[in-house]
Amino acid sequence: MTESGAVISKAVIPAAGLGTRFLPATKATPKEMLPVVDKPAIQYVVEEAVAAGLSDVLMVTGRNKRPLEDHFDRNYELESALETKGDEARLQRVQESSDLATMHYVRQGDPRGLGHAVLCAAPHVGDQPFAVLLGDDLIDPRDPLLARMVQTRAERGGSVIALMEVAPEQIHLYGCAAVKPVEGGDGDLVRVTDLVEKPDPAEAPSNYAIIGRYVLDPAVFGILRETEPGRGGEIQLTDALQKLAADEKVGGPVFGVIFRGRRYDTGDRGDYLRAIVRLACEREDLGPEFRDWLRSYVDEEM
Ligand code: UTP
Repeated sequence: MTESGAVISKAVIPAAGLGTRFLPATKATPKEMLPVVDKPAIQYVVEEAVAAGLSDVLMVTGRNKRPLEDHFDRNYELESALETKGDEARLQRVQESSDLATMHYVRQGDPRGLGHAVLCAAPHVGDQPFAVLLGDDLIDPRDPLLARMVQTRAERGGSVIALMEVAPEQIHLYGCAAVKPVEGGDGDLVRVTDLVEKPDPAEAPSNYAIIGRYVLDPAVFGILRETEPGRGGEIQLTDALQKLAADEKVGGPVFGVIFRGRRYDTGDRGDYLRAIVRLACEREDLGPEFRDWLRSYVDEEM
């Protein structure tokens, strides 16, 4: 286990999954590049990391990685065209993503699971605690979660996972945590005692689902190296975290921060549509007109 106060500066964003739930849109485009209103989902995630103080970002990519890299790089041709037109507002929007963070990339090769994707980050991360943000999980910027998790690691050491209460009949879609209270936890902090990946509802130890934000002790790398493929033949991050939770001597305790804010799984078609409608309604520029249209659509068509 590393010093609990070690500063966290690195974020790892796994974005090498196949995105099969979104085919055919994701046949030649990573699902993280699908637009949520007018920004690709992945930009919200990088912005979230930066807002929590993590400006060194390693993206784990696979096939079709070009659009992800290009989005966070300069586009001189486009910039010069906008400059010539004097379109300052759009120029600024184009430059925002390339000025955001220090970006690094590593390729996963075969998508052998989330645990394997995280292990690909080991040479870049080294012996420091680090954050993992799933590239298709969107946390509303007004409900900061990662900063709370970083603070928990600084105060208590170990690893920190994000949990969200879901309906019992939904728990089989997630990793699930068994938890117990911790002292001084402000009502949103628990100690994780066990983890199960996608349990049958009858066997689920709780209805706390693991969502896509983690702050991890680097001890997780040693465990991942020894973790055999689990559910679905993939190397599961949940299995490695379960081992961390079972033996505090390896990487310190595992805590859970219970998130009660707005979160969207943009890899799921229904949630993706909800994210777009909600964020569009709340936008100052698009919202008023879009809300009017939506109201009349619901009144007339539904
Ligand atoms: P998902 O479980 O959503 O899988 O991965 P997926 O392949 O991306 O999508 P579906 O289920 O086929 O539609 C959760 C996160 O882990 C990453 C994904 O990119 C996503 O951010 N991941 C998953 C990897 O980076 N590598 C993998 O081998 C698997």
